[in-house]
Amino acid sequence: MIHVDQLYYRYPGQHHDTLKGLSFQVAPGEMFGFLGPSGSGKSTTQKLLIGLLHGHRGNAQLFNKDIAQWRADIYRRIGVGFELPNHYSKLTALENMHLFASLYGLSKSQATPRIQQLLADTGLSDQAHLRTEEFSKGMKMRLNFARALLPNPDLLFLDEPTSGLDPVNASNIRNMIRQHKEQGKTIFLTTHNMYDADELCDRVAFMVDGELKKIDAPRQMKKQFGESTVTLEQRNDAGQLISADFPLQQLADNPAFLQQLARYPVETLHSKEASLEDVFIKVTGAQLT
Ligand SMILES: Nc1ncnc2c1ncn2[C@@H]1O[C@H](COP(=O)(O)OP(=O)(O)OP(=O)(O)O)[C@@H](O)[C@H]1O
Ligand SMILES: [Mg+2]
Repeated sequence: MIHVDQLYYRYPGQHHDTLKGLSFQVAPGEMFGFLGPSGSGKSTTQKLLIGLLHGHRGNAQLFNKDIAQWRADIYRRIGVGFELPNHYSKLTALENMHLFASLYGLSKSQATPRIQQLLADTGLSDQAHLRTEEFSKGMKMRLNFARALLPNPDLLFLDEPTSGLDPVNASNIRNMIRQHKEQGKTIFLTTHNMYDADELCDRVAFMVDGELKKIDAPRQMKKQFGESTVTLEQRNDAGQLISADFPLQQLADNPAFLQQLARYPVETLHSKEASLEDVFIKVTGAQLT
C-alpha cells in the first residue's frame, strides 16, 4: 500500500536534510505507527506522502504508483487528518463537511447520511450548525477527524488524531480508528503519543532526527527490549517511605531483593510492564517528548 525507499527531503533554503533516507513499507490492512519526538520529521513524512510537499529524493509509492505521478485523483482514495485542523471558519461544521464531500465527488444523497453519522460518532451533532470559528480546539480536531473518514478511504493518514482531546473523546476517536481498520483499511498514524501507538498499531516505526531507528510490532519490541520491574515500598524505622525497583525476572532468586524485603515492613509491592516509551529510550537513546 505504501512503499518508501531511501526517502530524503530538505526544506527549501535549509542546509540540512529533514528526512535522511527513510525506508519502510505498509501492507494493505495494516495500522502503521510513526512515533518520534517533536521535530523528528513525522509530519514532514506524512505531508510528502500525501503530496503537500514536493521535491523529495528517493522513491515513495502509494497504491504502487510513484507519489510524484499522483495528481488530484489521489485525494479521492485517501483520507487525511491534519496535525492542525484547517476548516473554513465562516462555515458551519455541516457546511464544511458538505464542501469536502463535494470535493471527494460524493453526491448529496451519498454524503448526507454519512456526514450525519460521522458528526454523531464524533459527538458533534449538537454543534453541526455552529460556525467552526466558534469551535474549541478539541471540537476542531474531532471535525478534522470526521472529515478524514468522509470518503471511507482505503488509506487513511492521521497526524496526532487525539492531540488536545479529553480522555473520553480521545478514547472515542481511538475506537473509531479501530473500527475503520476492522473494515480492512490501511492506516498511517503519526504520533508522539506512545499509548496510541502501543494500543492501536500493528507495527511502529521509531523516528529520531529524520531517521528510522527501528520498525517492529510494539509487543515484539517490548519483549525484546523491555524489562518488567517490581517496585517495593517500605516504611523504615524512622517512619519514612522508601522505594526500590528490581527486575521482575528471577525475583525470588535475587539476593538484593530478598535482603531488602526482610529489612522493613512492606507497604506496597507493584509490578510494572515495560512501556513503549521505555523501549523507545533504550533503542534510540532519545526521549519521546
Ligand atoms: N516549512 C518548514 N520549513 C523549514 N523547516 C521546517 C518546515 N516545517 C518543518 N520544518 C522542520 O523540519 C523538522 C521536522 O518537522 P516536523 O513537523 O516534520 O516534525 P514532527 O516530528 O511532526 O514534530 P511534532 O511532533 O512537533 O509534530 C523540524 O526541525 C522543523 O523545524
Ligand atoms: Mg508533527
